[in-house]
Amino acid sequence: MSTATPLGPGLVPGQTAKATSELFAAYIADDTTRGLVQKVVQKRGWSPKQVKSGGLPAAARALGVIAAPQILLVDVTGVANAPEALQGLGEAFEAGTKILTIGTENDVGLYRRMLDAGAADYLVKPLDADAIDLMIARAERPNADPDGKPAGRVIVVTGARGGVGTSTVAGEIAWLSSTRHGRRTALLDLDLSRGTTALSFDVPPGTGLAEALASPDRIDDLLLDRAASAVTPMLSLYAAEEGLDAAEATGSGALALLDRLARRLPVVIVDLPFRSPVFDAVAGRAKDLIVVSDAGLAGLRDSIRLYRHMEPYAEDIALHILQNRVPKSGGAVARGDFEKQLGNKLAAVLPFDEKAAEAAMRLGQPVQAAAPSSPLTKGLTGFTAGLYPAPKPVKKGLFARLVRRR
Ligand SMILES: Nc1ncnc2c1ncn2[C@@H]1O[C@H](COP(=O)(O)OP(=O)(O)OP(=O)(O)O)[C@@H](O)[C@H]1O
Ligand SMILES: [Mg+2]
Repeated sequence: MSTATPLGPGLVPGQTAKATSELFAAYIADDTTRGLVQKVVQKRGWSPKQVKSGGLPAAARALGVIAAPQILLVDVTGVANAPEALQGLGEAFEAGTKILTIGTENDVGLYRRMLDAGAADYLVKPLDADAIDLMIARAERPNADPDGKPAGRVIVVTGARGGVGTSTVAGEIAWLSSTRHGRRTALLDLDLSRGTTALSFDVPPGTGLAEALASPDRIDDLLLDRAASAVTPMLSLYAAEEGLDAAEATGSGALALLDRLARRLPVVIVDLPFRSPVFDAVAGRAKDLIVVSDAGLAGLRDSIRLYRHMEPYAEDIALHILQNRVPKSGGAVARGDFEKQLGNKLAAVLPFDEKAAEAAMRLGQPVQAAAPSSPLTKGLTGFTAGLYPAPKPVKKGLFARLVRRR
């Protein structure tokens, strides 16, 4: 990375040390990570002396004496209630410092709370030099939005198990989002090695998704344009070329891609297998997580497993569990039993509709276009409508009428 700016002693005559802002400082709890951060910093031409031991408490103490740096990396290992303790860095917040955090707790809920508390990032130890370098590189970039948060809504669709129709549901929601609900939408297929979305929309996959996922620092608008396939002017598909090695994808790659897409578009829908190595990172960005299951015993077991995995984050993510491919005669587990065992109501029960699914396949179109009056289309349309707020009714008062007449 060549964006390095050497950390000089930085003292201008007449200024006190407190008034001078360094570019970077780090407070790390353990020696191994501290050594790694020092190496990364040195490679950037910065002084390794800015990497100190002690973690968050040491950083909070130091900020009383030194000026807040532009980028501050703090270790929250062993700190009770880290998101709240972050407020101890008040001077850094005041100075507009980008606060990067690391810790040992691998928990998507904690990750989100850290971001809500004002951290720009949270990475889980053990870390490698690349991950640290990338985190710093991201912090160096200007924010696209004033608050640095992606503007678009991220809807993640995952399957309790394979073959239940996850990709079908993701594709259909994307189609509805861009047609009936009028949102410019991206459909991101993160089933990298086995994805079928490009096939089902009958468009050639773009190029460069693999590159973007493996090296987030290369993601720019040009690469995004190259990776996209335009299904319609309102719907772009991001799918990998066939046979991509999923191991290449990194959490930071997926997040960088997702955030960039969410800054460009109001809705991003992600087809995300539960077994994906980037599941937790990506699911953590979701506003809605849709879990597709079948109505069998194994589906119930796996839905419970996924539900338990996500339950701690239910405060931040709306969880919708739905059944798909359910025969007319009912599933192997009755709906009431399924819901009772799950401890939650199902958001929808979509019928097994071979005719509609086959027509869609044959025509290379979404089910709704290939079989608009099918039971499956009805089920999908009803469920998706619940995800989108209804437009506000037009005021019928005298004032509104006067305004409209002009
Ligand atoms: N409600 C339905 N009725 C009948 N067939 C369906 C229904 N939903 C999906 N299918 C069909 O089931 C098959 C699997 O669907 P899909 O590829 O969407 O599943 P998936 O869960 O994404 O699978 P994978 O685990 O392989 O990614 C496809 O042939 C699809 O057309
Ligand atoms: Mg699939």
